[in-house]
Amino acid sequence: MRNIIIGLFLFLFCLSACSPPVKEPVALIPLPDSVRIESGSFPLERLKTIQMPDEWKKVGEAFAEDLRKQADLSLSLSENIGDIRAEHNDEFPKEAYVLQIRKRQITIEAGDKAGVHHALATLQQLVLNASEGKLPCLTVQDQPRFGYRGVMLDCSRHFRTVDELKECIRQLSFFKLNVLHLHLTDNQAWRLALDKYPDLAQKGSYYEDFPELSGKYYTKEDLKEVVGYAEARGVEIIPEVDLPGHSLALLAGMPELSCRGGVFETYPEERPYEKRKRMYENMICIGNPQCFAFVSDLVEALAGIFPSPYIHLGGDEVSTSVWETCPKCQALYRKEGMTDYHQLQDYFTKRVREIVRAKGKTMVGWDEINTRGAASEEDLLTVWRNDGIEQQKKALDRGIPVVMCSKDPCYFDFGYARNSTRKVYEWEPIAKDTPAEKRHLVKGGQGCLWTEFVVSQAEVERMLYPRLCALAEVLWSKPEKRDWADFFHRLHIYNKVWEKLDIAYYPGDALDEQWFLPAGDSIQLLQSAKVQTDMSAAWGGYEPEYVFDGDLNTFFSTSYAPQKGNYLMLTLDEPKEVHAIRVVCDDSKEYLSEADLLISADGLHFRKVASFTEDGKAETELKGESIQAVKIEVTAPHFSRLTIREIILE
Ligand code: ACM
Ligand code: ZN
Repeated sequence: MRNIIIGLFLFLFCLSACSPPVKEPVALIPLPDSVRIESGSFPLERLKTIQMPDEWKKVGEAFAEDLRKQADLSLSLSENIGDIRAEHNDEFPKEAYVLQIRKRQITIEAGDKAGVHHALATLQQLVLNASEGKLPCLTVQDQPRFGYRGVMLDCSRHFRTVDELKECIRQLSFFKLNVLHLHLTDNQAWRLALDKYPDLAQKGSYYEDFPELSGKYYTKEDLKEVVGYAEARGVEIIPEVDLPGHSLALLAGMPELSCRGGVFETYPEERPYEKRKRMYENMICIGNPQCFAFVSDLVEALAGIFPSPYIHLGGDEVSTSVWETCPKCQALYRKEGMTDYHQLQDYFTKRVREIVRAKGKTMVGWDEINTRGAASEEDLLTVWRNDGIEQQKKALDRGIPVVMCSKDPCYFDFGYARNSTRKVYEWEPIAKDTPAEKRHLVKGGQGCLWTEFVVSQAEVERMLYPRLCALAEVLWSKPEKRDWADFFHRLHIYNKVWEKLDIAYYPGDALDEQWFLPAGDSIQLLQSAKVQTDMSAAWGGYEPEYVFDGDLNTFFSTSYAPQKGNYLMLTLDEPKEVHAIRVVCDDSKEYLSEADLLISADGLHFRKVASFTEDGKAETELKGESIQAVKIEVTAPHFSRLTIREIILE
């Protein structure tokens, strides 16, 4: 039997490889292994019933529920022969499926629940893209490249309701992404109710000055509902509780876990920096045994809610400053013969791994847990720093599996100027010189959406789509099939699908551009000039001089949101006759909306000539004035980082 199945895959592969290219009337994202278009069609009006084995019925019901909303089709599960018939075949590889649309019936073969989900997702895409109420007859044979295809959603900085999480899950499932990693806790909020610590979530999400943002967290029942909803749509939920740093909200509820005690206050991102208290004391006390008892209770609770084999316990950006002066941490440091305070984090990593493993789960950590080799082959690393290449190699050398979420290009909280859809599409998760025997340790990839500056569901969707579609294809499709022009074309066909899916995607012009990563070279200005600003450039070399290098694709980016009074000034060495000025920012997110544009003939006395519009534009016509300097002055606090691509003087 196995040979017959392998034969079928080979046969279908040869058919697609050997036959002349057909202009495919279907647009699927991610691109399947093979699509064979055949003659004839299946009328949508005849799509009424689905028949499938009992263990897959929940997947069938979810498909019917989603299609009812998206395409106004009324489908029901049937014990008798259905219009769609799914059959189990143990010989199929993991997640693989074959979908055949014939004139009278649609059949699916798969070996597991994931496979049948993916076949239905393909069918769902075909239905939403159908023209004249018909599906083309065809055969799709398909299986993913990577097993882990995820998104991390930060629910701490800004809360997402259960309904919004379901919305996200429906969207991921449509593009065959199969992991939603929930960042449930951080300095800004602890969103996880724990039976054993009944006050924690309330205290860890309380802001005296922002009552409307307070008290938002998930109960056990909420999370179980989300898990069940996701399970029926082929999505696994991985919970993250970020420890031992990023824990201010935990300390607000349980100050006894801190090194110094006293009162801690969690802060919403909306609170100005100067009003945040003890912001940099956000680590728990490694020298306090109570912390490990807490982690044990926490892991037990998480294991009871989430069936995923993974529990993410953070480990990123941990400072040692408080530990260095804490008697309990110092005592542990001496007892363990440590020589560097960072070893306290490693001690924590090793102990919590044992706690997680004792509950039958695998610990996941951000790549910092492997900085000094505390991670082990039994863990999974989410690699995020920079392009992730160095961290990936370091992990693979020691046999540690990784999921790649490299800041460039997988951080979707950055605007599209920095991480454009094309940059995501052209990204390769496995580093170039990775030996063949190590490649299997790269389990997949993940987009990360941090939400310091992302508030509403519409903003979440604009940051994710269409970049997430590009990521879905990178993680699913064969790398040799990747073709930006073809993908871009398919994406355009999806313009009508976004509406049916109710996704507020970003349609901007940064989409089709080549991407920019600062090379660290000296920046050539258009003409001899000086660029000054009091805003710090984002880590990685996104320097202010890029606003005047004549290239719209390069840019200055800030690491924080601009505040009232911040400025950027371009001063020319020689005055220039100027007829128009245009300031071009990132137009997806990181732009100025409350700022003035000023000019000066002598570099000393300035005159306002324009204000930035609500959608981040500033332009002015001048009558050939001689100009020495141009200045941008921020007039009110912003709620996003800033990216300026160019100041154009014409
Ligand atoms: C991270 O961005 N701190 C994982
Ligand atoms: Zn301590």
